[in-house]
Amino acid sequence: MSARCCASWATRRAGPGIVDRIRRLDEPARDARMETRPARARGPAPELRETMPVLSVIGTQWGDEGKGKILDLIAERADVVVRYQGGANAGHTVVVGQEKFVFHLLPSGILHPGKRNVIANGVVLDAGQLLEEIDGFEKRGIAIRGRLFVSAAAHLVFPYHKALDRASEGVKGGTKIGTTGRGIGPAYADKIARTGLRVGDLYDKRFRDRLEANVAEKNRMLQGMYGAEPLVFEKILDEYVGYAERLKPFVCDTFHLLREALDAGEYLFIEGAQGILLDVDFGTYPFVTSSNSSALGIAAGTGIPPNRIGEVIGVAKAYTTRVGEGPFPTELPPAEADALRKKGEEFGATTGRPCCCGWFDGVATRFAMEVNGVAALALTKLDTLSGYDALQVCTGYEIDGRTTDRFPCGDVPLDRVRPVYERLAGWREPLTGLRRFDDLPEAARDYIDFIEDFVRVRATIVSVGPARDQTIRR
Ligand code: GDP
Ligand code: IMO
Ligand code: MG
Repeated sequence: MSARCCASWATRRAGPGIVDRIRRLDEPARDARMETRPARARGPAPELRETMPVLSVIGTQWGDEGKGKILDLIAERADVVVRYQGGANAGHTVVVGQEKFVFHLLPSGILHPGKRNVIANGVVLDAGQLLEEIDGFEKRGIAIRGRLFVSAAAHLVFPYHKALDRASEGVKGGTKIGTTGRGIGPAYADKIARTGLRVGDLYDKRFRDRLEANVAEKNRMLQGMYGAEPLVFEKILDEYVGYAERLKPFVCDTFHLLREALDAGEYLFIEGAQGILLDVDFGTYPFVTSSNSSALGIAAGTGIPPNRIGEVIGVAKAYTTRVGEGPFPTELPPAEADALRKKGEEFGATTGRPCCCGWFDGVATRFAMEVNGVAALALTKLDTLSGYDALQVCTGYEIDGRTTDRFPCGDVPLDRVRPVYERLAGWREPLTGLRRFDDLPEAARDYIDFIEDFVRVRATIVSVGPARDQTIRR
């Protein structure tokens, strides 16, 4: 079936429900510092609570799709905003007026007055980074106390995780993932190996002994396997005793907090970090992160039962980027990639590394829609594509002479894939000042239609700039 044949399918798939409901979220977002009345009084309309108690915003590519902007846009109507996986590897940017905020661990809902923000059990928590982030936001006039809840069951990231992350990336002949160096892989490895220490352990009398044993073990690895410098246990202990004291007001049992919120009919927004193609099960393994960054991780990462997880908004850039190592079928040749990188300012928000850039990969993004059960698409950075005579969208993968539109799931290494493109007309006009779909150049509308048809999900939000108001709702 050609992509064009699916035109009415996209509308049917998203259905009027989600489209209408997102339209109802269309209110100007407010700044936390301008709070005048408690958020509870402004909660979602009763029909929203009944039909969509949990709404998730998930990346559908290799991260940096603009999840922060989209979450912030719609967070106005949430009661609770929740991070469920990943850690300080994330970098979510929100632009409010002239100000730019970058979130690594704090949920993006923190900019909205009165919202409760939860860092749930599935996150790996770099306590020092979180406290630094809290200090930074408080200095900018955003109150965090009483609005942030950190799961006692979230695993802690320690300096030895970061040291191991960096050391293993430096091994000659090894598989370099191009990680963010934030200790994510080693921290999740300890969680699965059942040697990890959780936030709640900071307040347990066995913490000292368990930490000492871990530091000794990791030092053996650092020295023996990587020839790296050992870490000093007492220094780490002192550091974490300090963190424990400062974190105490935020630590709680977030499972029961979320369950009670749901039972009270509150409206939960889930903020994904990374993207499905970095998911440890369904991403481009081994070039992935170490958590389930797709919607599949929400239940395990929060304790919200699968049957209470509602609709998913998938966020996709109008082209594709990837930071770190790993195959990237639609990657552009260096000079063209460079031009797109400059136009889109494609540098990782966490590490500042230049991103690899390429055309929109319809095959990968449709797969992302299927895995995440995406009900509506937020298509971001469409403005970046102004100025091209023609654009390409990948609609198939050629593998050993055969063409398929199925994303390989472990059966074929992605580096064996050659993209098959559909060529579409480009447009010259800048889009950043446009606010209505009908005002977009015809070629831009056709581009969106084509993507919707191909991925079979309707783009209910089209973003044409980093600011809150640079958004077209449909
Ligand atoms: P996230 O990790 O998915 O939240 O995305 P990042 O914040 O890492 O990267 C997205 C970048 O694009 C940020 O700098 C945003 O401010 C910016 N951005 C988001 N939406 C748009 C858009 O529609 N147009 C442009 N030009 N920039 C955008
Ligand atoms: P947000 O939430 C883009 C990538 C790293 C690397 C791989 C593994 O801002 O979209 P890790 O440090 O997690 O072990 O690195 O995953 N990566 C991201 N790429 N955006 C992110 O987060 C990322 N978080 C991790 O570059 O390729
Ligand atoms: Mg990012």
